[in-house]
Amino acid sequence: CKKNLRVLLDMDQVLADFELGFFQEYRKKYPEYPYIEMKDRVGFFVKDQYEKMFSSVPNIGNAVANIYNAKKFFLNLPEIEGAVDAAKKLAKMEGVDVFICTSPIEKYKYCLPEKYEWVHKHLGPEWVARIILTKDKTMVNGHLLIDDRVDIIGAIERPSWEHVVFSANHNMKADIGKRRRLDNWTNGDWKELIEDFKMR
Ligand code: TMP
Repeated sequence: CKKNLRVLLDMDQVLADFELGFFQEYRKKYPEYPYIEMKDRVGFFVKDQYEKMFSSVPNIGNAVANIYNAKKFFLNLPEIEGAVDAAKKLAKMEGVDVFICTSPIEKYKYCLPEKYEWVHKHLGPEWVARIILTKDKTMVNGHLLIDDRVDIIGAIERPSWEHVVFSANHNMKADIGKRRRLDNWTNGDWKELIEDFKMR
């Protein structure tokens, strides 16, 4: 018998819009602080780019971290356009098992429960059982990982999954080698991607 295709969906910037949520909250909470336009984001960590770009501004790194460490930040993240609809369709496809594979932030107090709540609220209660929380995604077994982070490393040198890079402002200029990209959930490309993987 043929095994199902196990698809791992990253959460932040694949399902939930961390970057938009961050930008809006940061501008609201620190209107007097300098900021980086979303289109100019480079590199995975917002904090790193802010600290590098605005090194003369005291405590800018703390200001940045205060935004995503705050209560309700993860809960209130908007959806990435088309993500919830696509994820639901993907989960209904014959021969496909979908999981959400996400890494919590260091200050996990609000992040952890709010990730669960976000999934429950946006995708539905049955999706909560599909959540895999880990700092090391290489330890997770799957065929395909859709993730915006370019440097996914961990204990396993050759993970079971193939990484498809979900496009985000911060990774557009990154060298992704031979990896494929998925640019969005709205143009239907994801269906072709899944069909390609199912035929392997
Ligand atoms: P993941 O997308 O690899 O699952 O990990 C995302 C986690 O990283 C998420 O909990 C948010 C966190 N994060 C930061 O701590 N700082 C940042 O600047 C960004 C963009 C994400």
